[in-house]
Amino acid sequence: MSETVKITIDGKEIVAEKGSYILAAAIKNGIYIPTLCNVEGIKPRGSCRICTVKVNGRMMTACSTPVADGMKVENDTEEIREIRKQIIELLFVEGNHYCPACEKSGNCELQALGYRYGMLVPRFTYEFPNRDVDASNPKIIKDHNRCILCNRCIRLIKDEKGRSMFVPRKRGHKMTVEIDNELAMTISDELAQKAAEICPVGSILKKEKGFNMPIDSRKFDKKPIGYDIEQGKEAASSKEN
Ligand code: FES
Repeated sequence: MSETVKITIDGKEIVAEKGSYILAAAIKNGIYIPTLCNVEGIKPRGSCRICTVKVNGRMMTACSTPVADGMKVENDTEEIREIRKQIIELLFVEGNHYCPACEKSGNCELQALGYRYGMLVPRFTYEFPNRDVDASNPKIIKDHNRCILCNRCIRLIKDEKGRSMFVPRKRGHKMTVEIDNELAMTISDELAQKAAEICPVGSILKKEKGFNMPIDSRKFDKKPIGYDIEQGKEAASSKEN
């Protein structure tokens, strides 16, 4: 039997598996913590910071911070909700996200988080970066205007030899995630579809397929994002916003 520890999240005591991450413990107990870069089953990267929580008074990422006995986690507090809202706003102004014209609208995790955290108009100045759209691959389009550099595609979309079909280029604020056009030239329909699905925004789209599902009947059109809401629990954050 695996060892366990006790932690509290917003005052609620929960039992977590020793060595697991705060996020995993929260999910097991139906406590919602938002994520963008994290995907179940692969090593957390801790890059988007949307899962920020306060752990014993310090800001940490829930997806990549292991639990420890007695840990006190603040998650759904006004302070944390405000930080998450700012992160969402920053992601919106840093790229070119024109939701009404985006194929992913209604299925976009960033857009859905904007709604959940009550974003109206970002308080930061739009950067309107000049970015290109790579449509050179036969199966997929990579729109750099919408990429939030979560790296999910790099970590998950691989060929049978384990080589990634997406690659990082440059560093820091110049970093981009590109299609490895040599490797991805023969990408299968299934893998192309998976790439479009694991992208949390509309940066990877499958070619020859668009707006199959009408706007208004998509994943987040009817229900806000969050497994707590899917499980029928009304989220405090959506109640307040
Ligand atoms: S989900 Fe934890 S940092 Fe992105």
